[in-house]
Formats: sequence, C-alpha cells, structure tokens
Amino acid sequence: MHYEVNLLGQPLRDEHVRGKAVVVIDVLRACSTIVTALANGARSVVPIADVGEAGRLASNLDQASYVLGGERDALPIPDFALGNSPSEYTPEVVKGRMVILHTTNGAPIFPAVAAAETVVAGSLLNVSAVVRFLRDSEQDAVLICAGWKGRVSLEDTLCAGLILHRLYGGVCPDDASDAARVAFSLYDAEQYDLYVALAHSQHGRRLTALGHADDIAYCAQTDAFADLLPRYDGSGLTLAKPGIAQRLPVGDLHAENRAA
Ligand code: MLT
Repeated sequence: MHYEVNLLGQPLRDEHVRGKAVVVIDVLRACSTIVTALANGARSVVPIADVGEAGRLASNLDQASYVLGGERDALPIPDFALGNSPSEYTPEVVKGRMVILHTTNGAPIFPAVAAAETVVAGSLLNVSAVVRFLRDSEQDAVLICAGWKGRVSLEDTLCAGLILHRLYGGVCPDDASDAARVAFSLYDAEQYDLYVALAHSQHGRRLTALGHADDIAYCAQTDAFADLLPRYDGSGLTLAKPGIAQRLPVGDLHAENRAA
C-alpha cells in the first residue's frame, strides 16, 4: 500500500483523494473533539466549512436535537454554545445530539475530501483505530494534516508519523515520499514525550496563552479511545464501530506517552 502525507491541509484536489482512504488529522483540537463527542454519545458530528452554514442546518432541526460548537482562530464563536475544547463535549451536553462543528483548519477539510473512497478522523486519542482501519482497508491512503492556515503544524505531523511508524513496522521504506519521511522522522525523534512536543508546538503555545493548557494534556493521550473510529459519510461523522475504550487518568499522561 502507498501512504501519502499532506503536511499543509488545504487546498486539496479531488484527484489527490479519489479512490483512496483519507485520514484527516487535527490533534489540537478538532479531531480530538470529534472523537470525544462521539465517545460521549453524540449522534453525529457535522463538520462545516463556513460558520454561516450552521444557521441554515439548524433551522431545519428541533432545537433540542443539536448543539453548535467550534472556534475561529481558537476563540469561541458568538452564539455557539460550545467552543472547541474536548472537555466541553461531555455526555450531559452531547448525548443523543448532533454536534454542528466549525473550526479554523480541521472541520473544513472533511467536506473538501468527500471524493475519497473513505474518510476518517484521526488523532492521538484514537491512533490504533486508525492504524487498524488502514491495515484492514488495503487501500492507498492520504494522511491529511490539518496544519494551521496552510502551514505545517508539529502536532499533526507527529500523529501522521506515529501512524506511519506503526504501518511501516518501525522502518521507513526506501520508496516513502519526502512528506512521509518527514513525518516518520519527526515521530522517531519525539516519540519519548509526545506531551512535551505538543506543548512546545506553535499551536500548543497559542492554546496555553488562551488558557487551554489542559486540552494539550488531554489530546496527548495516545490511544485513550483506541477502538473509536469516526467515519465521514459526506455530511457527518459517526462511529464506524461501537466500542468505547478506557480513558486514561490524566495523572498517567507522561508515563503513558513515553511507553507508547
Ligand atoms: C482547528 O481546526 O483549527 C483547530 O482545531 C483549532 C483549535 O481549536 O485548537
């Protein structure tokens, strides 16, 4: 199988993803929030590229059946009930409801790759589910790192590198693309403390400055939801397979990341 990595998020063209499996990776924080919302019982997560779409979608729904969430430049969106911190997506808030999610980089990628054969959401929280899916699907795949406004982000590249590390069995093949080799090598270098790497990343520092340092520790939990695979069907993400893995206690984060 051939695994390609897009380090910059958008722009994407249909011919790059058609007939392939796509993993959208946004560790801080869109995909970690999607995984958490579905783990906590959300019926679906509908990622939208434009804030204006939220009102249009919501106008056709019963008010109790949905919740609006997300961020713009990591800040709350006026009139949206939730921000983009996974900690807000508790069972009390999301169980049985549709989450309509707009984010700066991660959410808009899903509708942009609808031409792909299969689209799933990847994060450190569910990395084993993603690796299992890619192995089982036996399809060429594109790992799309959401990045930040067309720039590389360390945390998404790191997650792509971890996925490749597992798929390649720890040895980068000679025919790997440069982007795949960059991601693989980054994970190779940083694997001993993913939390520290995330905290030092540009977006990690941005989130810390905005008072969201706890989100970094949460999103660094490798395989906290090891069986959970959100799959996108062209309009929303739902669980490909039921099953909620154990969430790791926050106190064990460093030990767990070092062991991963
Ligand atoms: C994004 O989609 O750009 C991110 O999830 C931003 C964030 O909320 O941290």
